[in-house]
Amino acid sequence: MRIKVFENKHQVEIASASIFIELIQQKPSAVLGLATGDTPIGTYREMIAAYQQGKVSYRYVRTFNLDEYVGIASDHPNSYASFMKNHLFESIDIPSEQTHIPDGQQQDLEAECIRYDELMKAVGQIDLQILGIGRNGHIGFNEPSRTLSSKTHVVALSAETRKQNAHHFSHPEQVPTQAITMGVGSILQAKTILLVAYGAGKADILKEALQGPVNTEVPASLLQLHPRVIVMMDQEAGSWYRG
Ligand code: PGA
Repeated sequence: MRIKVFENKHQVEIASASIFIELIQQKPSAVLGLATGDTPIGTYREMIAAYQQGKVSYRYVRTFNLDEYVGIASDHPNSYASFMKNHLFESIDIPSEQTHIPDGQQQDLEAECIRYDELMKAVGQIDLQILGIGRNGHIGFNEPSRTLSSKTHVVALSAETRKQNAHHFSHPEQVPTQAITMGVGSILQAKTILLVAYGAGKADILKEALQGPVNTEVPASLLQLHPRVIVMMDQEAGSWYRG
């Protein structure tokens, strides 16, 4: 695991975007694992800037998102499909058919999970997966639990996660209670994983996940088992790290 603490958030945004840009420059058809939430927004902004400056094209890139809420339409402003469109896809040259997000509106959610796993299998291994970390240690929507699922599955969102995400909705009770998420097994299959975190509110869980015991009650601790994890944090999130 390579852990890097940067002086400020903007430096993390630039450095994390550079990992994506350099990969795509070397491998134009790279498969990217993408995330939503507040964390990746700055990374995506820098990826858009690189495109606008002619440094990179996303024409042949394929993407898979980690998760999607169950029960809200893909064009709802709070869906992760809308998030990805607004924060990345509509500002770069990736054809929409090369972007994949679980469909949380399907009647048969189990079938949707199987379809998503098969699609990932058909496209091939994710080259680079970006992750945020939940305050409870979740990755994707793999919530703390005695057991974790390896494959894409439906999850009940914890009260803590719903609270963490409530600021995106007009009323806290509008936060969906369920989501579809890639499993921890699929996440760990990515060739490289880039974990990004900002702010003092993430410091304790980062220390526990990255230096504590590997344990399904802290899903991000399973990243310790992966051979190529890069962690990028601002000073507040990385205050515990002594190098
Ligand atoms: P955040 O969420 O990026 O909005 O902090 C991260 C997560 O919950 O995985």
